[in-house]
Amino acid sequence: MSKLQNAIVGGVRTVLGRVPASWLPGGTPDPIIQKRATLGTQQPRIDGPDKVRGAARFAAEVPMANLLHAAFVHSTVARGKIAELDVSAAEAAPGVALVMTYRNAPKMSVPPAIGITNLKAAGNHTLPVMQDAEIRWNGQAVAVILAETREQAEHAATLVRIRYNAAQSRTRFKDGKKDASTPDSILIERNRVDKGNASKKLAEAAYKIDAVYRTPWQNHNPIEPHAATIAWQDGQLIVHDATQMIHATAGSLAKVFGLKEADVFVSSPFVGGGFGAKGMWDHQILGAAAAKLAGRPVRVMLSRASMHRLVGGRTQTEQRVALGASADGKLTALLHHGYATKPRHSICDEGFSLTGRSLYASASFDIVQHHVDLDLLANSFMRAPGETPGTFAIECAMDELAHQLGMDPVELRRRNVASCDPISGAPHSQSATMTAYDLGAERIGWARRAPAPRARRDGEWLVGMGCAGGTFPFARMPGTSARITLDARGQAHVASAAHEMGMGTATVQRQHAADRLGLPLDSVSVTIGDSRLPFASFAGGSSQTASLGAAINAASGKLAAELLRLAGNDTPLAGLRASDVEFADSGLRSIDDPSRHESFASIFRRSGHKDLSVTGESGPPLEMLKFSMHSTSAIFCQLRVSEVTGEIRIDRLVGAFDCGRILNTKTATSQFKGGMIMGLGMALTEETLLDERSGRIMSTSLADYHVPVHLDVPEIDVLWTDIPDPRTPMGARGIGEIGTTGVAAAVANAVFNATGTRVRDLPITLDKLAFNETPEKREAISPPEFP
Ligand code: MOS
Repeated sequence: MSKLQNAIVGGVRTVLGRVPASWLPGGTPDPIIQKRATLGTQQPRIDGPDKVRGAARFAAEVPMANLLHAAFVHSTVARGKIAELDVSAAEAAPGVALVMTYRNAPKMSVPPAIGITNLKAAGNHTLPVMQDAEIRWNGQAVAVILAETREQAEHAATLVRIRYNAAQSRTRFKDGKKDASTPDSILIERNRVDKGNASKKLAEAAYKIDAVYRTPWQNHNPIEPHAATIAWQDGQLIVHDATQMIHATAGSLAKVFGLKEADVFVSSPFVGGGFGAKGMWDHQILGAAAAKLAGRPVRVMLSRASMHRLVGGRTQTEQRVALGASADGKLTALLHHGYATKPRHSICDEGFSLTGRSLYASASFDIVQHHVDLDLLANSFMRAPGETPGTFAIECAMDELAHQLGMDPVELRRRNVASCDPISGAPHSQSATMTAYDLGAERIGWARRAPAPRARRDGEWLVGMGCAGGTFPFARMPGTSARITLDARGQAHVASAAHEMGMGTATVQRQHAADRLGLPLDSVSVTIGDSRLPFASFAGGSSQTASLGAAINAASGKLAAELLRLAGNDTPLAGLRASDVEFADSGLRSIDDPSRHESFASIFRRSGHKDLSVTGESGPPLEMLKFSMHSTSAIFCQLRVSEVTGEIRIDRLVGAFDCGRILNTKTATSQFKGGMIMGLGMALTEETLLDERSGRIMSTSLADYHVPVHLDVPEIDVLWTDIPDPRTPMGARGIGEIGTTGVAAAVANAVFNATGTRVRDLPITLDKLAFNETPEKREAISPPEFP
């Protein structure tokens, strides 16, 4: 990301700052905000019954005759070359049909990398896949085994003999920091923000916090591991994939194998959790290559171990946050500096430094982040990348500042919450962060919190409460399109290559289309999930609902125009244009004179048409550059810490969200809860154990990599402000990622309130709360460095 990009984005922002809002998308509030039909109500998932019955078919369940099963062999060094390779024992093992290595793999191009300018790219790294003897990370796939059963393939994988000529590798964060690079931009934002002489203001501040916060590498662990069922048929590549980027995967596989896009079909009607992980990694490419060599279809189901070695997750960060404040709690300086690992072949910025630019007003800012290049698996997107580790640091620092000031942490936020974009001055599209705080504070009973740490006790348990906020930007992707087909019986069908990862995509867009078209819910059906459907961007960055919503809205406008054309002059609607009418009561009516109405059935009858099909598209998201558009969260936590063992039990977790209008209270609640549980994992248990000497990921199963289980998860309350955002489709902002942000800090702040111990280093495991040990003692007993 370059200076040129900064100049372009900056230039567009400046121009849009002067353009009247009414010229832009979202310039006038979406009229559907005023309608009270099915949006905003509780609706069951339309895919629910199939999922409960086991009838919803996931990627690894697609039946196919003559199927071979894949297993992977992973490199055991971080850098070097394969010197010797003996696959004879593996080839001779029972059931084995193929052993593929760099020696016999077909020629393949490097997959195009995910980026903001190419919506048909899905690659998470920029390395060749099994094209040479080179090793680039510890865990790289060096052989693929195909066998008649999964077990036979896994067995044969143990028989491949490889000797490496290991080269010098760099796998320690500490070593990489020394020559970290400083990119010009982070995602679409300028990296360095330097405003109002922050260092000087910090030095002069009456109250100040200056601390370093650390977050670990984390691996993805969706319920459904990555999987694909792959076949070549008559030169066409067919991939039943678990993906959150259907068209991008199809486009990328076409590039990799030199095919026409029309010759790649990707289907992914159900995904068992994506969270940023379900893009294109090496397993789909290698599965397709092996299927081609073997001349038989292939099923790839990554084991947890293979997943941890082939699918990148959240990278490690080390962040310094320094806050200066005056006695009234007003921030005079906000400094946020730090490092995140980003191997040179990775495409994902872990943009933790974006957080501090939107939450609070401050008299000065000094923000920048650096990339640490290591010989590791590419890091990638993981639920609210950037904002999640970023809010941990900023929101812990705010709590530390509140403690120093002797001020209630909610009050400190109230005094500093931004009323516009703190850096650019752009107006908020809608923002009611403190309303969320007030809702959450009331629900958890914040008034009962003892301001002083270690003040509440229940036997051996120290009890505490904490809060923290979070932020995640609104995004709408261009190019997403939807086709609406309306028939003479008044049934509407919506089609788009959108994604269902468990969040309720079709359920909510069915509500949307019904309300938009003035139809009852059961007159609308929605088809999503394969690449033959109209183009859709990825389900990521919490953008899918807005993108698909904009497409359906655009299509409905076209549909109105087409219906008016069909209606002709012999209609109560004669002479009206599309902008003069609205959908109502299974027909069209004049906005100014509701008595002028004609039903779809009547229009179709007179015109003799059986149905009508139109496609609309989500246009350029210029509103994102004119307005400051963010979802925010206010998370409250009550927990207890055993003074004997240091064990933490969460008693209650409350999340209050300001995300525009909530479209389906049932699916939204689930999604927020899921995000908050991920936040608990980040706070308490999740950590990829990396052997820093070798770059080997050691935690390759759920026995080693701990995600919260039912016993770890308390009663969770989810609340929202439900104030429509007048600049977005349906008045909604994305809710996929905001649930996670703020949770880890709320837990850490509650731990401090309970114990008086400030843990700035995630996860908060009980060793960090050993009350009879000072940090100095802990340091002394930590294991010595290995050479
Ligand atoms: Mo999200 S990390 O963009 O799936």
